[in-house]
Formats: sequence, C-alpha cells, structure tokens
Amino acid sequence: MALPPTVAVAANALAERLEAGETDEALIVELAELGQIRQKDLNDHRANGAVFTPYSIAEELVREVGINVEDSVCDPSVGPGVFLLAAAEHKYRQGEKVPSIIKNLRGIDIDPVTIEVARTTLQLWAFWRGQEWLPVDQLVVGDALLDMPVDWYGHCDVVIGNPPFLGQLKSETARDSIRAETLKERFGSCYTAYLDESMLFLLLGVELSSENGRVALILPASLLGSNSSRLAREWIDQRLPLKDLWVGGRSVFEVAAVEVVAPILRERQSRNCRVVSHESRKTIEIPAVADGQWSRLLAALNGTPVVNLDGGEVLSDQASVTADFRDAYYWLAERVMESDGEDLRPKLATVGLIDPFRFMHGQVQTRFAKQKFDRPVIEIERDPPPKLSKWLDKKLVPKLLVATQTRIVECYADSNGGLLPSTPLLSVIPAKETQLWHLMAAIASPGASAWLACIAAGTGLSQTTIRIRASMLANLPLPLPSENWDEGAYLARKIQEETPGEQIYIRFGEVMNQAYNAPSDALLAWWLERLQKKQP
Ligand SMILES: C[S@@+](CC[C@H](N)C(=O)[O-])C[C@H]1O[C@@H](n2cnc3c(N)ncnc32)[C@H](O)[C@@H]1O
Repeated sequence: MALPPTVAVAANALAERLEAGETDEALIVELAELGQIRQKDLNDHRANGAVFTPYSIAEELVREVGINVEDSVCDPSVGPGVFLLAAAEHKYRQGEKVPSIIKNLRGIDIDPVTIEVARTTLQLWAFWRGQEWLPVDQLVVGDALLDMPVDWYGHCDVVIGNPPFLGQLKSETARDSIRAETLKERFGSCYTAYLDESMLFLLLGVELSSENGRVALILPASLLGSNSSRLAREWIDQRLPLKDLWVGGRSVFEVAAVEVVAPILRERQSRNCRVVSHESRKTIEIPAVADGQWSRLLAALNGTPVVNLDGGEVLSDQASVTADFRDAYYWLAERVMESDGEDLRPKLATVGLIDPFRFMHGQVQTRFAKQKFDRPVIEIERDPPPKLSKWLDKKLVPKLLVATQTRIVECYADSNGGLLPSTPLLSVIPAKETQLWHLMAAIASPGASAWLACIAAGTGLSQTTIRIRASMLANLPLPLPSENWDEGAYLARKIQEETPGEQIYIRFGEVMNQAYNAPSDALLAWWLERLQKKQP
C-alpha cells in the first residue's frame, strides 16, 4: 500500500534532510506531524474513530505508564504511530539501541493507508537516531478486536494508545448487527449492546498484557461510571486492576471535544491509586478502588467528599424511579402550548425548569420540541389514546422530579401531581404519598449528591457534572428512620414552599448529614458551595 501523496511529499523531504546529515532535535515534532497530515486527508474521522493523538500527549502517557528499555510496546489501534514514536524516543533516551527498539514495537490498525504512515514515520525515526534504514515488520493491517496476531496475546509488556471512540447511541458510529453478534461472541459477558468500542480495546489490552504488563488507553471519561461498561470494568479489576488514572480533560483533541481519561492498569504494589490531571497538573493519591468503581477516582480529583451512606433500605424499596420513554416525548410535543395565564391544564416540566427545591415555570424560558416557551402547558383531548391515558394516570400524581445533568442533585416535589415530566427528567413516585417529603429530603441531601457524584463522575457533559440514571437513583441508600430525617423532611418542604434564608439550607444539610450518619463539615461546605451557584 502506498503512502497518501500529501504524506509522501513531507516524508521524502524529511528523508532527504536526514540523509544530508540533519540531526536537529526538533525533528521529532516534524516526524509526529506526518500523522497530522494524514488526519487532514481523512474526510470523515467518525466512522473509524480516527482522531490522532498530539505527540505531547503520547509523550505524557508514555512517561505515566513507565516503559523500560526491553519492554515490548503495542498500540492496538496504532494509526500513524505516534505512541510508538514516543515510546521509541523514550527508550532511546534511556540508552537503548535503535534496532532493538524497533524490534520491540508492535501495532495494528484497520486502515492500511494509515499503517503505512506509521511505518514510514518509524523508519525515518530509526534513520535519524540510528543512521540505518530498518524494516518495521510488526505493523499489521487488521481488526484488532477480531484479527490480532495470536502470538501477541500475553506477550506485550506495555499496551498503550488511543482506540477509536465508537459510541453506540449515534447512528454514524453504531455497529451493525453482524458486528454486534461477532463481538458479543468474542467478549462474552463483558459485552453489552451500548458499550463503546474503545472499552473493548481495554479488554483486549488486558489479554495482550504480559505477566508484568501495563495497559494505558485513552477513553471517553463516561466509561468510568457508565452502566454499559460496568461488567467490563469489574472483569478488568479482577485481572489487571486499575492502578492510576490520567485525566486528560476536554482539550486534548481539537476535532473532538470529549472529556477523556486514560486508566492505567497494572499489578498494584501499594494500596493507593494516583490520579493525575493533565490540565491542572494536580496529582492526588487515594485508596485503591475495587469492583470497577473507577469514577470514584475522578470524583476525588474533583474534590468530591467520600461518603458512606450505610442505611437500611434503598430508594426503590419505597418508590418507583423511572425515566420516560420516547413515545411520551412525542405525545407531549403534539400537545404543548403556551399558557395564557391562570390555567388548570398540566404544566410541562423540563430539566431546564428544575433547580434544587424549585420549579422555574414562568420564571425562565425553556426549550421543548425545538421551540421556546415561557409557561408551557399540555392540552389533553377528551379521549386521549389508551397508551397516553395510562401514562397520564401514572404521572399526574404526587411525585419528585429529578434533573439528570447536574453538579448536585436538583429535585422538586410536585406535591399536587399537576406536572407532566418530559424526558430525560426522572420521576420518583413514592409507594406511600405520606413519604413524599422524606424521600425529597433524602434525594436532595448533601450525602446523596456526593454519593451520586462518586459513582457517576465522568458521565456528564463536563468533568464535574454527572448524568443521573434511574437505575443509579433507585439504588440510593435511605437513612434509617430518625428525628433528624423527620426534621429534614420538614425543612425540605419549608425550603421549597417558602423562600428561606441561608440558615435553613445549612440546617437542612446538617440534619440530613446526621440522618445519614455522615456528620461532615467538608460535605456540608461542598454541597452549599454548589447549591449557591444555583441560587437566583
Ligand atoms: C483514535 S485513532 C488513534 C490512532 C493512534 N493510536 C493515535 O493515538 O494517534 C483510532 C485508530 O483506530 C483505527 N481503528 C478503528 N477501528 C479499528 C479496529 N477495529 N481495529 C484496529 N484499528 C481500528 C482507526 O483506523 C484509527 O487509526
């Protein structure tokens, strides 16, 4: 396979300069640039997830993972080879000979043209550093998840790279049914329908890893806490546990603004995990996590207090917790209109209208079904279709509405049952109506916010927001019955129904911390700071 013309021109020019004896240290940047030239040629990077890594990021990860001179290094989605280039340079600086370095580099990619860019880049590097044109044999074309050379399994000391991010909720990156079946067979119980393909590469990395091997792959931060990747994280933790976490943030890739992290897997020598932020350079050490609870590391970096909410029951023991389905959205979209003042029709509730203890209907505009509304209400015909009618019976009851993309839990009690929630709002319908304010107090408590932030860090649109799923909220531990919880319920109602001063919020936080047996000033301060940002 030939090089793409744009890369060939740049590579030939580099080769001539090298053969003329140029030895400038800045050449490394120009070598890495060949990959970026290839990137510009790719019209649509989405289908194969081909977003190449800047050289400085590859260098940083190579340092984080720690590469010894004799290590075999494999990038299972090698692209133009930037990680192998950084690994080669790292070894060279440690005194390793160029032929030995080249011999220990391995890479596979599905794109035969990009593989040639990797080969040329590494050959130019070898000539630059070793004055010899060497073959780079261990670069192969293939689907890493299905056609990996068998003798690489268990024989890679370092698996490093940036696999394709192929989210399954978008049609352009979703796999077809044949691939889904094949991958399901290949990855067994770790496979789930919505699992991003990049997580399958992390599973592959563990399989490739040698006895003392290490794996570091860049992934979307949402995989730290998403439900679809939970089984994969648990499987990994039992084989090659998460030791450290590199947090890249949102600015790593120019063409794709996604929050990224790189889990670093290796046998743990200490009981602590390191979490390193690329953007702030902050590094923390926290006790290691187990059972795939990786989002706790990101939560700790964000300063989320650690809480242990040991109670008796969980929310789903006392309430149903549901997210609405698409049909409900369309029913509402066909019937939504602007209210003309005093109105008995059900009000529409959207995530944008729910703030902590507040429903902002009439105070802020909201968007729904591609339109803006000041006071959206729902006009329901006399005989609605049976399915809608059933849904209305279920929803027009006293309930709690919980927003889903937040920094702390934002919950409002619809005590009259006059609101209709639109997806993605969550509805919590108490089994006993009398428990409404108690459940509100538990969900709106500082402890619940910290608990959810720990299990879901990375799943929101930014590093510090969380996406609350119904299944997560359903598992929220409840406090044991106590006077503190009773007072919390009373105060939650007071906060919602009056406009109290700050002291009431503080008291609410304190009593709910007591109710949860988590009397922590740090937790209270963390929650109040976030709450204040939501106050009008
Ligand atoms: C995000 S890019 C990263 C490339 C390189 N590791 C880097 O960091 O610059 C992902 C690469 O994976 C390749 N790819 C996509 N699906 C693949 C698969 N199933 N097996 C191997 N490579 C794949 C794409 O062609 C692309 O080169």
